[in-house]
Amino acid sequence: MRIKTAAKGDLDALCAIEAEAFNEDSFALTRQNFLYHIAKNRLFICKIGNKTAGYILLLLRKNSKKARVYSIAVKKEFGSQGVGFALLEKSFTYAKSIDKKGIKLEVNITNTRAIGLYEKSGFVKKGIISNYYPNGADAMLMEKIF
Ligand SMILES: CC(C)(COP(=O)(O)OP(=O)(O)OC[C@H]1O[C@@H](n2cnc3c(N)ncnc32)[C@H](O)[C@@H]1OP(=O)(O)O)[C@@H](O)C(=O)NCCC(=O)NCCS
Repeated sequence: MRIKTAAKGDLDALCAIEAEAFNEDSFALTRQNFLYHIAKNRLFICKIGNKTAGYILLLLRKNSKKARVYSIAVKKEFGSQGVGFALLEKSFTYAKSIDKKGIKLEVNITNTRAIGLYEKSGFVKKGIISNYYPNGADAMLMEKIF
């Protein structure tokens, strides 16, 4: 398992992961979105052999002391192998290296699998944001301070 920074050549693989993970969702990232984030933010991918198993997108704002996990997804065929955990660990190391003091995220309160992974990675629940998603679903705000 290797984690590396995504480049333009990874766009096809990123779009394939996104389509599988967030097929029905209006907020799924497009090819253009990925291209933008490759240039402006930090996108890490996990390679297993020559396949791209998953990605994590970190948003980095100069005026914020915390990084934000905007999205994370792992291909079903590589699920439950620690790929999500490894992508989060890489994000912590990177965020620390650029002097961020913590990392936050929002996750659908029904996404118990993701919430379980975040808790295992040291995130704590900070509160519920009502009506956060376009379909009216609530989000759990979670945070990890380094
Ligand atoms: C959530 C997701 C990223 C997890 O990726 P993954 O590589 O399978 O996760 P890992 O193997 O690193 O870790 C899974 C951990 O989550 C937790 N977990 C697994 N299944 C769980 C469940 N049913 N309920 C609660 N926690 C669970 C466990 O702590 C597990 O660790 P373990 O395997 O040691 O028991 C992946 O399932 C995914 O892409 N889902 C669809 C997209 C998504 O929902 N993204 C998050 C919101 S943006």
